[in-house]
Amino acid sequence: MDKLLIRGGNPLTGTVTISGSKNSALPILAASILSEASLRIANVPHLNDVTTMIELLGTIGLDVTVEENMTLDVSTRDILNLRAPYNLVKTMRASFLVLGPLLALHGHAEVSLPGGCAIGPRPVDQHLKGLSALGADIRVEEGYVVADAKRGLIGTTIAMDVVTVGGTQNLMMAATLARGETTIYNAACEPEVTELAACLKAMGAQIEGAGTDTIRIDGVSSLQGAEFRITPDRVETATYMIAAAATRGQLLLKNTCPDQIKAVTAKLQESGVSITLGEDWIKLDAGVHDLTAVDIFTEPYPGFPTDMQAQYVALNAVSEGTSRVTETIFENRFMHVHELVRLGADISFEGNTTAIVKGVPRLKGAPVMATDLRASFSLVIGGMVADGETLIDRIYHIDRGYECIEEKLQSVGADVHRLSSR
Ligand code: UD1
Repeated sequence: MDKLLIRGGNPLTGTVTISGSKNSALPILAASILSEASLRIANVPHLNDVTTMIELLGTIGLDVTVEENMTLDVSTRDILNLRAPYNLVKTMRASFLVLGPLLALHGHAEVSLPGGCAIGPRPVDQHLKGLSALGADIRVEEGYVVADAKRGLIGTTIAMDVVTVGGTQNLMMAATLARGETTIYNAACEPEVTELAACLKAMGAQIEGAGTDTIRIDGVSSLQGAEFRITPDRVETATYMIAAAATRGQLLLKNTCPDQIKAVTAKLQESGVSITLGEDWIKLDAGVHDLTAVDIFTEPYPGFPTDMQAQYVALNAVSEGTSRVTETIFENRFMHVHELVRLGADISFEGNTTAIVKGVPRLKGAPVMATDLRASFSLVIGGMVADGETLIDRIYHIDRGYECIEEKLQSVGADVHRLSSR
């Protein structure tokens, strides 16, 4: 298993070019199932999660051609296997997004119950409840969701009980080919839902309201091919901003999406970081003021994202003062805390959902273990600000979601190296 060796102490300085968004690319790849014509997707990030989705589409019977600069061309072959197997779905929860498209176009799907990051129980009840409301017959057999809609799905009204990004995406995709109109209330407003809707519309779907909590979809009989460009990754952007702040660095982030990370930008400014925003760039200087710890409360978009909580805990751990970090989206999403404590951070818990972070002047390098995708980067941040060496084990979690991590970090001055076990 690969490890990352980090020698701390270098401020991040220079320019980082942001990759395409993983969380936009995955549902859009799943959407390619909805059309027999070809979907060309540009600016796809080169990541293990994307490879898993490509493999899954191949298993189902789609042809995926990888062209220059990670432009993917996805088209359907004749024979389809309507089963998404356990070995692929277990490594990545987003694989579950093939359920809605397969069911909508082919009237049958068998999709393993998902796995993914170990961040608490992550049910799919809302996906299944919505598909049932659209007229599907759904049962769970030997760990697989088996869904049938032999005469097609039928538009309906769905009120989601919780705000779920994946649930909204799965149902929105399914409803594009349902007969009649579907309204999804309490829909997720995340940019990844809006992006998916934009791609589906380019394929001929009739969708209104994506980006608000009420989405209306007027079903069409078929979708066509299209070309679509994936937006920059807002989580990668915010992660590098927080990392630069923690190391008291100065970064220019290029090809990014300042509008999608306003909650994080506001928190960083509250911490004392100087930030200048352009249309598609962000300039950040963390060396102007002393940094103070700030309270964080994760919320659905446009609130502070759960995917940036772990990284901010690492920043607060080396900022002045005490902060409360409250996680409201996922249970058990504080596993990075135990590892940061190994580096000398002073963090305790109040109940299961709030971490109390007391800033310390320095961390000290130690061996630590990555536990999930975003948590892994908080350890990278910890390692970059710690004195001495930090060795991070199980970095396959990081490779799921951060493109060229060591190259990007090295290019802005970090002393980070991959120790490959191969
Ligand atoms: C997506 C993102 C992930 C991010 C999360 C929240 C992708 C590939 N992943 O994950 O990075 O952390 O949004 O912004 O885009 N829930 C239910 N029942 C369901 C579905 C979800 O109770 O049927 C709950 C979950 O347990 C969780 C909350 O809803 O507590 C939000 O989950 P959801 O928005 O579905 O997350 P994902 O789409 O899996």
